Parts: sequence; C-alpha cells; structure tokens
Amino acid sequence: MKLSDLKIIVTGAAQGMGEHFARRLAEAGAQVAAGDINEEGLAGLPAGVHRRRLDVADEADCAAFVHWAYDAMGGLNGLINNAGILRDGLLVKRDRTTGAVVRLPTADWNAVLAVNLTGATLMAREAAAKMIETDTRPAVIVNISSVARHGNRGQSNYVAAKAALAANTVTWARELAPYGIRVGAVAPGMVETPMTRGMNQKARDALVAAIPVGRIGVPEDIWLAVRFVLECDYFNARTIDVDGGLSV
Ligand SMILES: NC(=O)c1ccc[n+]([C@@H]2O[C@H](COP(=O)([O-])OP(=O)(O)OC[C@H]3O[C@@H](n4cnc5c(N)ncnc54)[C@H](O)[C@@H]3O)[C@@H](O)[C@H]2O)c1
Repeated sequence: MKLSDLKIIVTGAAQGMGEHFARRLAEAGAQVAAGDINEEGLAGLPAGVHRRRLDVADEADCAAFVHWAYDAMGGLNGLINNAGILRDGLLVKRDRTTGAVVRLPTADWNAVLAVNLTGATLMAREAAAKMIETDTRPAVIVNISSVARHGNRGQSNYVAAKAALAANTVTWARELAPYGIRVGAVAPGMVETPMTRGMNQKARDALVAAIPVGRIGVPEDIWLAVRFVLECDYFNARTIDVDGGLSV
C-alpha cells in the first residue's frame, strides 16, 4: 500500500517509536489517528494528526477509539499496535541480604499482559471488525513485538506478551486474509527511547556492547521495517527482527 493512501491508527504515539511512526506517516501524506494513555504527550505531534486519549487495556476505550478514528479520518485501513510497557523482574530470586525467596509480583505480570497482549489484541479485533464491517480492502495491521520474544532473563511477562503477539500475527494473518487484511510484525532489539533511557546505565552499556552492529538502535531503524510491512503487499504473517544482530 502507498503510505499516502493510509488512514491509520498508531497506539502509544505520545513518545518514543510510536511518536516517530506517527510523524513519518504524516510527512508521507497518510492520515493518522494517534492514541496514548498520556494525552498531553500527543500535543507534540504535527498539526493534522488526529489525537485522542486511549488506554489499550480498556475494552470500551479501544472500541470507542476505533469508531472515533474512523469518523475523524473518513475511513480506516491500517493499525500500528505499538503501545507497550515494562515491569521487569525475575520469576523468583533469593534476596542477598535477607535470604528470602522473592516472587515476581502477580500485579506486574498482569499489568504487562493487559497492555502488551490484551491491549494489542483488543485493538486488532476492533480495527479488523471495523474494516470488515465497512468492506475496506486492502488493509494492514502491524504488531510491534520485541526480540525478547525469543526469551530474555528478567522479562517473563514481557517475553510472554511479545512472543504471543508474534504467534498471533500468524493466526490473525490467516484469519483475516479472506477480508483482504494483511498482518505483519516488527520485533525491535534495543532502541533509544524513553523506555530504554530509564535502564540502569551499567546494564545498558553491557547490552549495547553485545550488539554486533556496535550501536543501540534508533526509532528510524524500526520505522524502515514498519514502512516495509505497510508498503509491501506481499509481506504477510511474518515477524521481522530488527536488532543489529543482537538475538543471533
Ligand atoms: N525501546 C526498545 O528498546 C524496545 C525494544 C523492543 C520492543 N519495544 C516495543 O516498542 C513499542 C514502543 O516502545 P518505546 O520504546 O517507544 O516505549 P515508550 O515507553 O517510549 O513509549 C510507549 C508509549 O506507550 C504508551 N502507553 C503505555 N501504556 C499504554 C496504554 N495502556 N494505552 C495506550 N498507550 C499506552 C506510553 O504512554 C508511551 O507513550 C512497545 O510496544 C515496546 O514494548 C521497544
């Protein structure tokens, strides 16, 4: 699909990669409906980008957002499922001072699954339903997974969500193909955004040193892959790892 023909929702668009995707799409002439739980953060997007508060973990909010986006853009033929959070922690660990065995808090498990998996699923469901109800084709959904999908220490919740998202990229591509909707995914490695800026500096330096291309990624690196998924009508059901070689 041509970027300029897109009427596309971007979730988590207030900062980081979502903000970058929304900007690039708007520059290319696409109509963009940007959503984020941080409504004030959306103010920095270029004029012309439609914006509204969105909590992807809230079912009613997802449905309302999709209806609003359809009306605001005069149609809907794309979704970038980008909103995500981290609540890192080991499944269990022995506390060095007390000796007690500490468990991963269930609340942290649930919070990450609610946003990164249930949220992305609700948005895909509502967007696909709208596209089918309005006989829109072709259409495209891009899920933002992570190379953590291959397994990563300290990220049980995140890994579970991102691996499931990659697996369901296949499921949804198969289910939605009869309606002319493609589904693809991009799995970034470590990318310079507010999400990674919050990391412990030592852990961050060690991770960057392990990246074969010798640097942390930037949102533009990931945009090139997202753009490919959007534009290439023959790309479907797959997840592209864009990680500088980190996961091999
Ligand atoms: N930065 C990385 O290294 C990296 C690596 C792999 C995958 N990812 C994934 O890429 C995506 C974007 O990450 P980022 O680094 O730009 O993160 P970020 O934290 O900088 O931005 C995420 C955005 O999502 C929004 N958000 C959080 N919860 C939300 C909710 N319930 N509803 C709507 N919006 C919500 C936040 O407000 C924020 O604006 C995420 O899915 C993340 O898991 C990031």
